[in-house]
Amino acid sequence: MHLQGIDSVVIETRSREYVESRIRAGVLEQGTVNTLIESGIGERLQQRGLLHHGIELSFNGRRHRIDLHELTGGRAITVYGQTEVVKDLIKARLDTGAPLYFEVTETSIHDLDTDRPRIRFHHNDQQYEIHCDFIAGCDGFHSICRPAVVDKLQIFERVYPFGWLGILAESKPPSKELIYCHHERGFALFSMRTPNITRLYIQCAPDDDLANWSYDRIWQELATRLHSGGEIELKEGPILQKGITPMRSFVAQPMQFGRLFLAGDAAHIVPPTGAKGMNLAVADVRVLARAFATYHQSGQTELLDAYSATCLRRVWRAEHFSWWMTSMLHRFPDATPFQQKLQLAELDYVTSSRAAATSLAENYAGLPFDV
Ligand code: DHB
Repeated sequence: MHLQGIDSVVIETRSREYVESRIRAGVLEQGTVNTLIESGIGERLQQRGLLHHGIELSFNGRRHRIDLHELTGGRAITVYGQTEVVKDLIKARLDTGAPLYFEVTETSIHDLDTDRPRIRFHHNDQQYEIHCDFIAGCDGFHSICRPAVVDKLQIFERVYPFGWLGILAESKPPSKELIYCHHERGFALFSMRTPNITRLYIQCAPDDDLANWSYDRIWQELATRLHSGGEIELKEGPILQKGITPMRSFVAQPMQFGRLFLAGDAAHIVPPTGAKGMNLAVADVRVLARAFATYHQSGQTELLDAYSATCLRRVWRAEHFSWWMTSMLHRFPDATPFQQKLQLAELDYVTSSRAAATSLAENYAGLPFDV
């Protein structure tokens, strides 16, 4: 929007330190990378991002590679932490001199169904009121924007009977590519942030306590679930950070009411398997920025009117993909032996049929943008 000459004010409840250190997923689709580069904030991403052409699925004690590059006609993913994207966005914003307020309190939104909605908030003991053309509610699952219109929305939700223990550790990643493991003790994922920092996830109970996860238990459980028979060396190292994330699928639609547009987690959540969350948020704001630009230049509202339908098409595809990856790879506490056999049959199919592998690959690497 700044590049199109459209003024905006960004307000954030948390501190800059908080948002720049909160660890989230780290897989960027090609389209997300292109969007960030086109927006002029791709420099550090291009220097530091790790380009990956495939992923591995591990089950029944064997690893199988999905060649994303070959199956999608040359697409790839980039491993670059969401935290790093947030740092790049904040720096670019501050460099423009345009307003960005951290640690605002008492935020409220008003007059959404008029052509002059307002936002009120406190910052540094001062009261502010902004008279807007539009409000973009990019304020996460604990949004204050969504509740303001919740009686106009339809909600779809599914909560999963497990969570992920996420670990950042100072050790060399066990493989150059990501490994998704289905194991009878539960799911595990081996990812990375740099060639010397590994990012790991272990399926745990949704209400598990971090205190249950000692250094020894974490490394032991990872080694068991990797089940590599000594083929891969899992190097232990100091744990820099750990946290537990619950898992849910959630969609609130439509993603617009009057002059309020919801984007990203404010409108939808996916379980993390497949790392679609931030990619979906980038896809939303890409559609929204283009719609604002068209309106700004010509007064035409077609793209704004189509915002929700345009985004929801991609959102529901990603909801399905994330649910499917989650369902295939995790151990469900109440699964019958029949259901467990079906999971293995699906994994076998995905790793032995080119058609099935292509379906996984094109969703994982990211479908093309509609706009
Ligand atoms: C990461 C997170 C994911 O949810 C995933 O599917 C792949 C990688 C990560 O944090 O690196």
